[in-house]
Amino acid sequence: MYVIGGTASTSLAERVSRELGNAPFSIPFVKRFPDGEIYLRIGGRLEGEDVVVVQSTRTDENVLELLLLADAVREAGARRLVVVVPYFGYARQDRPFFPGEPVSARVLCRHVELDADATVTVDLHSSATLKEFRKPAYEASGTGAIARLLRERPVDLLVSPDRGGVDRVRRMAERLDKPWIGLEKRRIDSEHVELTLPDQMPVRLEGKHVVILDDVISTGGTIVEAARLLRRERVRAIIAACTHGLFLRDAFERIKAATDEIYTTDTLDGPAEKASVAPDIAILLRKHFGSP
Ligand code: R5P
Repeated sequence: MYVIGGTASTSLAERVSRELGNAPFSIPFVKRFPDGEIYLRIGGRLEGEDVVVVQSTRTDENVLELLLLADAVREAGARRLVVVVPYFGYARQDRPFFPGEPVSARVLCRHVELDADATVTVDLHSSATLKEFRKPAYEASGTGAIARLLRERPVDLLVSPDRGGVDRVRRMAERLDKPWIGLEKRRIDSEHVELTLPDQMPVRLEGKHVVILDDVISTGGTIVEAARLLRRERVRAIIAACTHGLFLRDAFERIKAATDEIYTTDTLDGPAEKASVAPDIAILLRKHFGSP
């Protein structure tokens, strides 16, 4: 296998290539035309190669770069192409919430797979989105990477900040053999949420080490509010953990002030990157596409 790292995922792509037994790795030359359009070039021919392109789609430019990269790989004669999209942008708009809205997640699925034989992603907002791909698509979990870190820390309780995250937190709780709870979340607007504790609590919160686990930290509103709620119950320490750390504006500083530690994986480059999903991606690539 040959690994190419897009500008949004260079470091992770290199880690994936190492996990694949030091598979050949390169980054494309990328620049802008005077009118702002993206120009890119990959080095050399790839005749008969199985190629993996790694590129998170955090911004619209990242999406376009991924599409151009996939076309360049095909032009270079690759035998098979797998696109790895560690952070899959637009995944949260997975249904029309109001009349007139698109299913943005579906649009992205159908476009990122256009030139690919298969897609690999990590912790989609909802795994149900996998059915929107028309070609094979596989989802790695960020839970393993975060669990490897949490095993080194005192943890008494895992907390999902909303119902949508309950399965993820339950899986983590099973791995660590710890109790878990799911909070009730009511979104007030795109930055503010209201959270409440469940009626039944498996443990008393006072004095406990708790982990709030989410798929994405975006504005930080959810984690900050969850941390406030837990502090009111006099927990001892709070770790905020997620797979994808977007940290918009001052989100990182606000979460830092509200919690004791922040853990994210490397699906996005960022200030709290502490665990790598490269081994989990490499396992999927090996399983479905054979070892290099
Ligand atoms: C929402 O359902 C997601 O799982 C996250 O809880 C949410 O996207 C986090 O966003 P923010 O950091 O802006 O509260």
